[in-house]
Amino acid sequence: MAKKTMVDLDLKGKRVLLRSEFNVPIKDGKVGDDTRIQAELPTIRYIMDQGAGLIIMTHLGRPKGKPVEDMSVKPIAAHLSALLNREVTCIPYGTEESIKAAADAITPGQITLLENTRFWPQEEKNDPAFSRFLASLGDIYINDAFGAAHRAHCSTEGVGQFIPASAGFLMEKEIAFLLEAVENPKQPFVVVMGGSKVSDKISLIENLANKADSILFGGAMANTLLAAKGCDMGTSKIESDKLDLSREMMERVEKGACRIVYPEDLVAADSFSDDAEKKTVPYDKVPAGWMALDIGPATVKAWAAIFAQAGTIIWNGPLGVYEMPSFAKGSDGVAKAMAESSAITIVGGGDAVAAVIQAGYGEKMTHLSTGGGASLELLEGKKLPGIEILQDKD
Ligand code: 3PG
Repeated sequence: MAKKTMVDLDLKGKRVLLRSEFNVPIKDGKVGDDTRIQAELPTIRYIMDQGAGLIIMTHLGRPKGKPVEDMSVKPIAAHLSALLNREVTCIPYGTEESIKAAADAITPGQITLLENTRFWPQEEKNDPAFSRFLASLGDIYINDAFGAAHRAHCSTEGVGQFIPASAGFLMEKEIAFLLEAVENPKQPFVVVMGGSKVSDKISLIENLANKADSILFGGAMANTLLAAKGCDMGTSKIESDKLDLSREMMERVEKGACRIVYPEDLVAADSFSDDAEKKTVPYDKVPAGWMALDIGPATVKAWAAIFAQAGTIIWNGPLGVYEMPSFAKGSDGVAKAMAESSAITIVGGGDAVAAVIQAGYGEKMTHLSTGGGASLELLEGKKLPGIEILQDKD
């Protein structure tokens, strides 16, 4: 059932409590990659245009229940203020009385950002009394923090037990694309899976194998799977203690209807460096002492042919060491081929999204998910607390 969203609500004159996902990199007191903040602007602008006052909550990093200066949200308030071209104040860490007084002073047209919710030890315990307190700060709770929706914390779930919870635009979009893609994909459904650890993604792979027509493996994950099949991967990064686990999983997966596709060729290097000596080799011919750092051109070509027939493509996890230009060509080629296909294209997880943006195809994808762990858990078929708490549409 569809979830209630902001457009179902009358926000005029109300004080809105918005949970955003501003867990962004901060360096030297400044916001680095602001993709998550940019993605939140439509929700914030809509709330302001409706004539509401706005209190935004977010966590930043893992301060473990105490104030940590480096993890203050102050740089985020400054960044947001510059993006919106209007004042964004901060409610500092303090007692419930001081927070309540600051929140009550917010009138329609004003925006404030509550200090890092994880400074309070109650937050990650989903403490009901603290959730009730946070709920008392606003009239309406909007959860737009898809990236933290797999956490049952006060600000992501608990508040919704005390005041009605609706989805913001970003949450709505993430649910629409990711849930729809796994529950009702346009066929054929193709999954591109990379990243370093097979062991982290066993249940994800098994769930998607039940739904997808093909899963294409790249990145260090493919190295481990190829090693589990008996290939000598040289000094490539593999999970050597997970070969039996990988083999058993792939035996189960290969019994199903989903086609499993491994790289045909790899770019191997004699050291882990952008200026290493490198050569393209068949997947089972990594030279002794060399390591695979990217998928090769024959693989990109073969995958592009699969994409050309696809209805939905989901890409999760990097396919090579895309941060080094010498080993970014596989990711670039896959991004280009996805962009040129007529499929619905969804990219999830920080690294795959960064690789697509670096390749210059970010705008060409149907959806770039802002959630790392949350998008993985959703694709695994898990229920996310931050989504479950949202009210259903009438
Ligand atoms: C993320 O960046 O993936 C989310 O903000 C969740 O952060 P966490 O893993 O610290 O809960």
